Amino acid sequence: MNTSSATALAHPNIAFIKYWGNRDNALRLPVNGSISMNLDGLFTRTTVTFSDSAQADSLLINNKQVYGPGLTRVSYILDIVRGMANTKEKAEVSSENNFPAGAGIASSAAAFAALALASSRAANLTLSEAQLSVLARRGSGSASRSIPAGFVEWQMGQSEADSFAFSIAPADHWNLVDCVAIVNAAHKKTGSTEGHALAGTSPLQNARVEDTPRRLEICRNAILEKDFEAFANIIEHDSDIMHSVMMTSTPPLMYWQAATVGIFHEVREWRSKGLPVGYTVDAGANVHVLCLGEYAKDVEKRLRELPGVSDVLVAGTGGAAKIIS
Ligand code: DP6
Repeated sequence: MNTSSATALAHPNIAFIKYWGNRDNALRLPVNGSISMNLDGLFTRTTVTFSDSAQADSLLINNKQVYGPGLTRVSYILDIVRGMANTKEKAEVSSENNFPAGAGIASSAAAFAALALASSRAANLTLSEAQLSVLARRGSGSASRSIPAGFVEWQMGQSEADSFAFSIAPADHWNLVDCVAIVNAAHKKTGSTEGHALAGTSPLQNARVEDTPRRLEICRNAILEKDFEAFANIIEHDSDIMHSVMMTSTPPLMYWQAATVGIFHEVREWRSKGLPVGYTVDAGANVHVLCLGEYAKDVEKRLRELPGVSDVLVAGTGGAAKIIS
């Protein structure tokens, strides 16, 4: 039996300028560019082993065998890798997260970034960072942004090959911390993939997309200049715009809970009194509260005291996806 194996680690990321809607759903080509930061301390570790004796691809997540759509999505990436490496070997994929599932941290970003890196390396391919980002994107759009280090921009690109993410600043550029306030969602949420397909049904989506270059520039500059006030204003604005699109889609998507909105008011109040904090929310009810590192302890404590907050996860800025064996 011949086998070839590699293990990779990738961090999830939080988007500051959001990806919402595709111009090509199958290829995950987005309608707009986006900006994010990787979340240090949280990670997915994935081992891919190609074997000439395996009959079919298999997938183990946190020691549980996964079948159905989860496995199909992984095999889709393995098929692309097999095509590039000119092999027919099936693979065993084993993946672990160190953050709780359903914690409002998009696990698909870290998962597909780690899968892209581990599977291409196990197949003896040496892909550039941009090629890895493209490959990860095919599994989950936001995964393209978990390949490069630190603060990252995903350019929408003109075509399949140039829609990839790159680092705009390294992880140690700015001491930003994400305090994720976990709000117990009462309703089952609609996944991002379904949500992207609905974005175009909102009459607000065109305006959102047309305005994105402006928001990208403000956010990019705020990060590069470490201008927290400008940063907080633009991430809240961008998150609110995306949720406006979600709420006005057909059928409508309402991810916020009462506690979500309660946190918005608190965060704005704290900021008006001089605490450097700003919020952003992905496709869920949990609120990511960004702050300068020296205030993280205080922000975490304040969030824990708010009604409806069951837990707070704290993460600094993370590095690139990497091979660990
Ligand atoms: C709201 O990358 O999770 O978090 O490509 O279908 O896997 P798929 O979608 P996904 O969408 C992320 C949406 C978002 C905003 C963002 O991360 O930019």
